[in-house]
Amino acid sequence: MEQLPGVSSVKSLVVVFCFIHLSLALQCLNDKEPCVNNATCLTFKNGTEYCRCAPGFLGEYCHHKDPCHPGFCLNGGNCSVLMSAGVPVPGSATCSCPLAYIGPHCQTPQNSTCYPNNPCANKGVCTLLTLNKSKCECPRGWTGEKCEHEDSCLSSPCANRGLCSSQSAGSYTCSCPPGYTGPRCLNDTDECVATPSTCQNEGLCVNTPGSYKCTCTPGFTGRHCESSYIPCSPSPCLNGGTCHQSSDISYSCHCLPGFNGTNCEHNIDDCPGHQCANGGTCMDGVNTYNCQCPPEWTGQHCTEDVDECRLQPNTCQNGGTCSNLFGSYVCVCVNGWSGPDCSENIDDCATASCTPGSTCIDRVASFVCLCPYGKTGLLCHRDDACISNPCREGSQCDTNPISGMFNCNCPPGYVGNTCNSDRDECSISEKEKL
Ligand SMILES: *[C@@H]1O[C@H](CO)[C@@H](O)[C@H](O)[C@H]1NC(C)=O
Ligand SMILES: *[C@@H]1O[C@H](CO)[C@@H](O)[C@H](O)[C@H]1NC(C)=O
Ligand SMILES: *[C@@H]1O[C@H](CO)[C@@H](O)[C@H](O)[C@H]1NC(C)=O
Ligand SMILES: *[C@@H]1O[C@H](CO)[C@@H](O)[C@H](O)[C@H]1NC(C)=O
Ligand SMILES: *[C@@H]1O[C@H](CO)[C@@H](O)[C@H](O)[C@H]1NC(C)=O
Ligand SMILES: *[C@@H]1O[C@H](CO)[C@@H](O)[C@H](O)[C@H]1NC(C)=O
Ligand SMILES: *[C@@H]1O[C@H](CO)[C@@H](O)[C@H](O)[C@H]1NC(C)=O
Repeated sequence: MEQLPGVSSVKSLVVVFCFIHLSLALQCLNDKEPCVNNATCLTFKNGTEYCRCAPGFLGEYCHHKDPCHPGFCLNGGNCSVLMSAGVPVPGSATCSCPLAYIGPHCQTPQNSTCYPNNPCANKGVCTLLTLNKSKCECPRGWTGEKCEHEDSCLSSPCANRGLCSSQSAGSYTCSCPPGYTGPRCLNDTDECVATPSTCQNEGLCVNTPGSYKCTCTPGFTGRHCESSYIPCSPSPCLNGGTCHQSSDISYSCHCLPGFNGTNCEHNIDDCPGHQCANGGTCMDGVNTYNCQCPPEWTGQHCTEDVDECRLQPNTCQNGGTCSNLFGSYVCVCVNGWSGPDCSENIDDCATASCTPGSTCIDRVASFVCLCPYGKTGLLCHRDDACISNPCREGSQCDTNPISGMFNCNCPPGYVGNTCNSDRDECSISEKEKL
């Protein structure tokens, strides 16, 4: 135990050194300083501050010219520079050039299938894959390997989600989805005229746009009426209902409580005649219902009182005293607060008598008057005696904030109410010697 104070003082010494070290790190004075050369001073998420340099500058404070200034590498080349102890090595900037450009600044195009002769017509952009392999990126309206065709798909001529492909000489072809035909996929295929007929077992075929429907004769089912119908296989009854076959082609569903309808598809509304009290809202469930109660009530049917005074956080704020009532509560607020939960700060400025021309600041159960120049006092109703410069030149005048009176702080060698009396230092030194 005796050792601890010593240990902790060593620790605090270490902490102090750490702070000194940290305070040597870069610190933003505003959004620019101490960074230079138009850099921005920013803060990382972890609190460390740094300079984000403008293009063309480097270094902790952006105080070094970046040899990789914009425009050093041309044609999309990437510039890199050697750094030594945070300082760029002069003349060490190098460019890494994209395909087909060479030279220290990537300034010289190499002969390739793109250069000097651009094979892409109509302002197509030639992109090299290798030196002797390229592709054309065509502007809107042009297509083809060398952008030589007008793009006849530009007007989206294929209807009904047909896929357009542009041909030479301004023509196009549409590849149509099932159900549509014709050069622009505009013609609906009538599936019902097909032989053998689309719907089997004497099912009735109805053509629809892009498709068709089969209405099956009794005893058959399936999209094409291809299967024989077995009433309860599979069961059409939903929500756990049980299927009973009543003839070769009919069935009935026996539903679980809370459901009805031919296939038990309907959840019966249990809310009619509900018992949610005190403004509670009924929410239908399965064969039951729940009550959503207003905040003052709880319990299955919203008939139990909520004791608001026992809730966390306290219902009555700012030190108010809470009293629970059946179905509500009251707060008795402490001085300066009001409102049903004592959260409203009474505007003391509404009744304050700050002198006209001053600014009233509302506090809790009080107010402060901010006085204009030349006024003082709690209500700014007094004149500031210092305004008339009563103190001798070279002394400091202080105003008493209550009375408005002045008090002069005299420079060495002067005394008196207004510091006007020259002090007799000789007599003082005599006294002090005694
Ligand atoms: C600094 O940056 C601003 C905006 O980015 C620009 O308008 C201004 O010209 C720059 N000044 C210098 C000295 O680079
Ligand atoms: C703060 O974060 C930056 C970047 O995420 C990192 O470079 C720096 O080292 C971090 N500083 C500290 C003190 O963790
Ligand atoms: C330049 O750098 C970017 C990003 O790192 C990279 O995607 C690109 O391929 C580089 N270009 C060259 C020519 O090295
Ligand atoms: C590049 O092509 C031009 C003309 O097409 C030719 O004069 C020149 O010699 C070629 N350069 C190289 C390095 O092949
Ligand atoms: C493509 O260029 C490479 C080297 O530049 C060469 O070896 C190859 O034969 C060329 N291929 C064609 C098809 O010209
Ligand atoms: C498409 O429909 C039009 C008009 O209904 C008709 O004149 C044309 O012959 C049809 N084309 C095909 C390929 O069915
Ligand atoms: C389901 O039952 C409710 C109430 O019992 C009734 O009003 C409703 O018409 C029934 N619905 C069906 C589809 O049978």
